[in-house]
Amino acid sequence: MKRIKLLFVLFCTVHALSAQTILPTPEVFIVNKGEYRMPGHVKVSVNDTQSYFLPFMKEVLKAQVGSSMSVSKNPDKGDIVFILDKSKADEAYELTINPKKIEIRASGEGGFFYAVQSINQLLIGNSSGKLPCAVIKDAPRYKLRSFLLDSGRQYQKVSTIKKYLDMMAMLKMNTFHWHLTEGLGWRLEIKKYPELTRKGAFVGTDAEQQGFYTQKDVKEIIRYASARNITVMPEIDMPGHAEAALAAYPQFSCFGQSPGLKKGQAFSENIFCAGKPQTMTFLKDVLNEVCELFPSNYIHVGGDEAPKGNWNRCPDCQALIKRKNLKNSEQLQAYFSADIAGYLKSKGKKAVFWDEVLNEEDYELPDNVVVHWWGYRARKEKPLFTAIKKGYEVICGTNYYTYLNFPLTPWKGYQENRTVDIRQIYEQNPSMNRDSNSLVIGMSCALWTDDNVRESMIDQRLFPRIFALAEQMWYRGQLISFEDYYKKIQQVRPYFEKLGYEYGPGLRSEVPANYSWE
Ligand code: ACM
Ligand code: ZN
Repeated sequence: MKRIKLLFVLFCTVHALSAQTILPTPEVFIVNKGEYRMPGHVKVSVNDTQSYFLPFMKEVLKAQVGSSMSVSKNPDKGDIVFILDKSKADEAYELTINPKKIEIRASGEGGFFYAVQSINQLLIGNSSGKLPCAVIKDAPRYKLRSFLLDSGRQYQKVSTIKKYLDMMAMLKMNTFHWHLTEGLGWRLEIKKYPELTRKGAFVGTDAEQQGFYTQKDVKEIIRYASARNITVMPEIDMPGHAEAALAAYPQFSCFGQSPGLKKGQAFSENIFCAGKPQTMTFLKDVLNEVCELFPSNYIHVGGDEAPKGNWNRCPDCQALIKRKNLKNSEQLQAYFSADIAGYLKSKGKKAVFWDEVLNEEDYELPDNVVVHWWGYRARKEKPLFTAIKKGYEVICGTNYYTYLNFPLTPWKGYQENRTVDIRQIYEQNPSMNRDSNSLVIGMSCALWTDDNVRESMIDQRLFPRIFALAEQMWYRGQLISFEDYYKKIQQVRPYFEKLGYEYGPGLRSEVPANYSWE
């Protein structure tokens, strides 16, 4: 009887340990016999004691098991040994847990950081500090894995942005696409043009549409992000979505007017005038400060949803069309985009555009252009295939199904055909599995803030659906069934809730009657 009881206890222990969940799923995760117990004081050995993953490792040990930590360069003395292995791919890591110690191999800080993230998840709900002996070999599917936050339509506090950088780090996303300018707000301090924020950051009427980020705030966000293996890719949208900038500087519009957005209007034809040299000088001045501020190789310059009504009537735009032998205002946007991309190229940057940049398919663009494929609802796969045919790099962020502002059930401007649940994302997202072509460098997801999505409304839109997107961005294997994956998500839910993230419903069938999206 005693023996049976012992066997039962053993079985339960092994079962509990092997049921540990790491999300997004590692490529290889083999659980072996035995376990490692984290000591009360953990000695960590590293090549470089300045490494940015070390403060995070210390935090994890303190928060999850109450252990202290010291760092040395002596690999023989380490309980956790970080080994630089240049044969490993960028951001890949190999984690070996045996009864005596933990070894982590990676080619750089990104891989080490993600190994610590995985250890963190293994320690969730496991204050005893026991880990199963295991081998994990892991590497990302997409090189660029991004989350867009729309700080243009709504302003979020710096602390809120940090909260989502923490979330990204846990989900192994490495690019924060920061949408900083919109019709309803220009949020980035530009020293040469102070009216942009003095006036342009206060054109909205909602309480959370007031404010901007000083260059000091931006530097702090870049610092916080880079300590989490995240690059901040800024977006300065042009020529459209520019009503806030034009409220501050109407002289850069076609007719020197700044009518602003009408109630409920997402964008208008009041766009930057491509025909006025002073407008181009202004935009390049802005990009000078942006390139100075943001170390990112990728600078996003928008280019979406720019109606041509004003350009069609503007003497300056029409004169430029004639001078450059362009067909029409649509081609003028291609000319404008090529000019901006060329300028960014001269600064050693890649220029990312929404997929309208390919509307004039035959227009030659500079080779630093990157296409952000988004318009799946209107254009299906055409932009993806055109970009690949023309040899441009692509980021996949289709509005079916990577836009997390689309709720699960209708709300405000979101009718039934603009709703999505986690099963649809997991099973039908057109942006997944596009990495077989090496021009496809990334996958993105987005939280736009149309219709006044305030800070308190973001979590319920992200959680739990963002787990499906993180899995598609990171996991290199064949996705398991949705039902099994959904069970894994439930396992990590208490941890994310403990950290303060609030879950909304995942499946349509889970949306309670009278559920509020606000
Ligand atoms: C977009 O959703 N307008 C890029
Ligand atoms: Zn014009």
